[in-house]
Amino acid sequence: MNIKIPYNIYEKERISDQDFDRLSTFVTHHYGIKLPKVKKVMVEGRLQKRLRATGVGNFNTYLELIFSEQGKAEIVNMIDAISTNKTDFFRESAHFDYLITHLLPTYLEVKNKKNISIWSAASSTGEEIYTLAMVFEEYNSKQEFSRKIDYKILGTDISVEAIKTAKSAVYAYDRIKDVPLELRDKYFLRSKDRSANKVRVIPTLRSKATFQRLNLMDNQYTLSGEFDIIFCRNVLIYFDKETQEAVINKLCQKLRVGGLFFLGHSESIIGKNVPLEQLKPTIYKRI
Ligand SMILES: C[S@@+](CC[C@H](N)C(=O)[O-])C[C@H]1O[C@@H](n2cnc3c(N)ncnc32)[C@H](O)[C@@H]1O
Repeated sequence: MNIKIPYNIYEKERISDQDFDRLSTFVTHHYGIKLPKVKKVMVEGRLQKRLRATGVGNFNTYLELIFSEQGKAEIVNMIDAISTNKTDFFRESAHFDYLITHLLPTYLEVKNKKNISIWSAASSTGEEIYTLAMVFEEYNSKQEFSRKIDYKILGTDISVEAIKTAKSAVYAYDRIKDVPLELRDKYFLRSKDRSANKVRVIPTLRSKATFQRLNLMDNQYTLSGEFDIIFCRNVLIYFDKETQEAVINKLCQKLRVGGLFFLGHSESIIGKNVPLEQLKPTIYKRI
């Protein structure tokens, strides 16, 4: 049978240089994310589904939409599509080893502090948060009652879709294949429908986590209280140097003196005027 395929089905809409500049300036200004020319093809690709979903035929009309009063809601979807949410359970595991070997024992023995509040400031789909929860649970399981630590974790991100996934705590089984078997059995439930191949984080861990949308580009972070630990990993890499410095300073305002700050493997505070002292590569203490 000779099926006629509409001409446009395999054709990607293209964005003009002028429209790309406009979009890139807007995204960098409001969300910090740099979009140099080399990212044009990537942005074009990621926004195709938004062109289809909104029913606009081309990028020029799409930009008109997002810059119009009635298009404001679409900006949330546009940022969702553009942001890179790559993450993993136990990503950069040296950070979690550090917590177990240095931080948690110090908290109990030296500081005698039994409550720890943690903020994952670009939590994406939640793997970082549930990894932290597993680490704390494992630590507690080896302590007598009086030495157990009570912890709570806040996850924030700019992506609404990522937060939705983080809250649901449902993942494809493949996503946890690198989690040690013992932890997989303890902290994840298999879906009843085995063919769905999904797992869900157990309620004990989920109850320790809360989530909200927060833009790191906000002038200040209106969160109550101070945190003992802040994870801000693999997001500053998308920002320019001045923005990175400004964001770290704003995060430090929410980190108690002596608290710990974690960056991603390719990020650092070198050359930045921030109130942090390095303890290990990518691990810092608030001074
Ligand atoms: C690559 S993920 C990193 C996730 C996790 N921290 C990790 O290291 O595995 C980067 C996250 O930063 C978020 N992000 C980007 N710009 C942001 C902004 N201006 N405010 C808050 N989150 C932002 C993205 O939505 C994405 O989920």
